[in-house]
Amino acid sequence: MITESMTRVLLPAERIQARVRELGAAIDKDYPNGVLLVAILKGACFFLADLARAVTRPVRLDFIGISSYGKSKTSSGEVKLTKDLDTTIDGLDVLIVEDIVDSGITLNYLVHVLQQRKPRSLRIVALLDKPDRRVRPVDVAYVGFPIPDEFVVGYGLDYAEQYRNLVDICVLEDVPNE
Ligand code: PRP
Repeated sequence: MITESMTRVLLPAERIQARVRELGAAIDKDYPNGVLLVAILKGACFFLADLARAVTRPVRLDFIGISSYGKSKTSSGEVKLTKDLDTTIDGLDVLIVEDIVDSGITLNYLVHVLQQRKPRSLRIVALLDKPDRRVRPVDVAYVGFPIPDEFVVGYGLDYAEQYRNLVDICVLEDVPNE
């Protein structure tokens, strides 16, 4: 059940949209010939949809599924590929689109996997970054917002598959550790 009292707005929708436009402009500048945007399911889908429309260069889209959390709010450290790309990325400029970098386990794993496929370039854009939580190194080229170590939901981010459709990014208060 989604109730107002359980969440506190951290980043309102207007602020998110303004930052996404800035990220789109930066990507336009860095990829004049366009880029393949690879979104990590499921959380990054909302960010991908807005970011792709903030970029004016040619973009192609693909999706990859990686699960590291299950339904727990803390990282188990286990990573598995749940859906592979449809695109052969050999020789392509690839930009991984992620909603949040937390421990870095997901992106550290994905970069390792995709580098072996010999893309022309491989970089990361993440809307949110929790640098204090990092346990694996990740080089994030574009960060929307560095945020403190609080449990956030909304704009694609979930808790036990809820809250993804909130337009703001909110802190979920009093979440029990699972
Ligand atoms: C979340 C989030 C990132 C990852 C970040 O995904 O969307 O992909 O965890 O955590 P990490 O840096 O500690 O690896 P999750 O596995 O919850 O799946 P979801 O996107 O389907 O919610």
